Amino acid sequence: MQQIKFDFNNMFSVNLPSAQGVSNEDIHELLPAAQMAHSHLEKVFGSNKDRIGLGLEWVKLPYQDKGFIKFVQKTGKEIAKKYDNVIFLGIGGSFLGLKAAQDALAAPYYNEFKGARKSLPRVYFEGNNLDPDTLSLLLKSLNPKKTFVVVISKSGETTETKAAFMVVEAWLKKGAGKNYGRQVFLITDPQSGALRSRIEIEQKKDNLSFRSLPLLRGVGGRFSEFNMGLLHLAIIGIDILKVLNGAADMAKRCANSDYVRNPAYMYAMLHTIFYKKKGKPLAVIMPFSETLKSTADWYVQLLAESLGKKYGRKVQLKNDGCESWERDMGKIVNLGRTPIPCRGTSDLHSVQQNNIEGQSDKVITFIKVDRFRSEIRVPGKGDMLSGREFSSLINLAQEATEWALVVESRPNCTINLPEVSAYYWGGLLFFFEMATAFEGELLNLNAFDQPGVEGYKNYMYYKLGKPGIPKSVVEAINGVQLKKSREYII
Ligand code: PA5
Repeated sequence: MQQIKFDFNNMFSVNLPSAQGVSNEDIHELLPAAQMAHSHLEKVFGSNKDRIGLGLEWVKLPYQDKGFIKFVQKTGKEIAKKYDNVIFLGIGGSFLGLKAAQDALAAPYYNEFKGARKSLPRVYFEGNNLDPDTLSLLLKSLNPKKTFVVVISKSGETTETKAAFMVVEAWLKKGAGKNYGRQVFLITDPQSGALRSRIEIEQKKDNLSFRSLPLLRGVGGRFSEFNMGLLHLAIIGIDILKVLNGAADMAKRCANSDYVRNPAYMYAMLHTIFYKKKGKPLAVIMPFSETLKSTADWYVQLLAESLGKKYGRKVQLKNDGCESWERDMGKIVNLGRTPIPCRGTSDLHSVQQNNIEGQSDKVITFIKVDRFRSEIRVPGKGDMLSGREFSSLINLAQEATEWALVVESRPNCTINLPEVSAYYWGGLLFFFEMATAFEGELLNLNAFDQPGVEGYKNYMYYKLGKPGIPKSVVEAINGVQLKKSREYII
């Protein structure tokens, strides 16, 4: 069976001038840190308590119980058979993986054409913004009796998802009758949070209402597609075991302590060298496939939220022998590569001009697909395009882009997918997850928290009158007032 491959020729001095490319010395210099990173990950991944406590349980997701997966698949099938539409409410890690799966693994134009979606329900994503226009139009257009709603929120507290669910629940209640709860599924933390309490209350009244799944604990939001996204995969008819098998095979390759054989380690090491030593803080992620555009968006969140950090990490041992990862407040580091999503070939007529001739501050990562699901041959004779296949044209465009970047000494690399299928897509996601975890180790950051997003949340909670906001937070909010001077508004 073919494997996903990571091609980093265009990062080395084999294709780039020596000052621009990575040398063997650069790699050797990073090796002690890489060895430490590997040992540390191996240790914490190997301890049940550390994995759950630190939010690393995602490494176990490829190996979930087959009986459980069968149950999810069956539940999804039943929902799909009964309803015309399914609305998924969620944001961030509770949304982007689902959207990526939808676009990569379901047929293109899925919602538009019944044949394309094989008579499965139309799928809509809401609760990932607070823009009133989309949700209001959707609810005006759908029949509540024929619509199923899946709410996904690990914490059960996220404003966007919560507000959307309050609106959708009222809409369902009004339009679907007193048993509307049977059209609601809540995917949340297995032990805590407001949604968990709601499930318990509603299930006592009617066990067919507000159903849920017994998910694994200790999986961080953006690492949770193989957890929070399972029911979605089942509803759109994807074979979950194939996704997980792809992830498991990749997990094996990414556990290899020999960095030369470990694609995730190599990816993280090379990007770290370009970032720390060669002045390349920008990370362009550019699949040459329409169906992988949302997977690029998913990676944007993974990279930005995991590694964009103000403080480094202090590893401490607790009394029970488990690790705790605290923020090292003694020193501001402000680290993290900035991800930029791009799409080949569309963005060759847009951002690519800047990639080639703009500031030389980026590394471009291509995702290339060998075999597409269908083929189109350009008709006619006598034109250079006549008789050409679209798949060969898109791959030629990718090769041409690599070449053009190399000519300008711009580093780039390619992740080669044999095809966009459940198996390889599962592998691709796991590859990026492990690469991000390893990069976090190399930078000595906690890749599994996101303290930076608390600022906007606290400000909103304060303005909305949420009770119990700590005094220090209120003081911090009042300490910095947004000035809106007329002088600076024209
Ligand atoms: O990666 C993360 O942890 C975040 O992006 C969360 O997924 C996001 O904030 C949504 O959180 P929740 O699932 O608790 O609603």
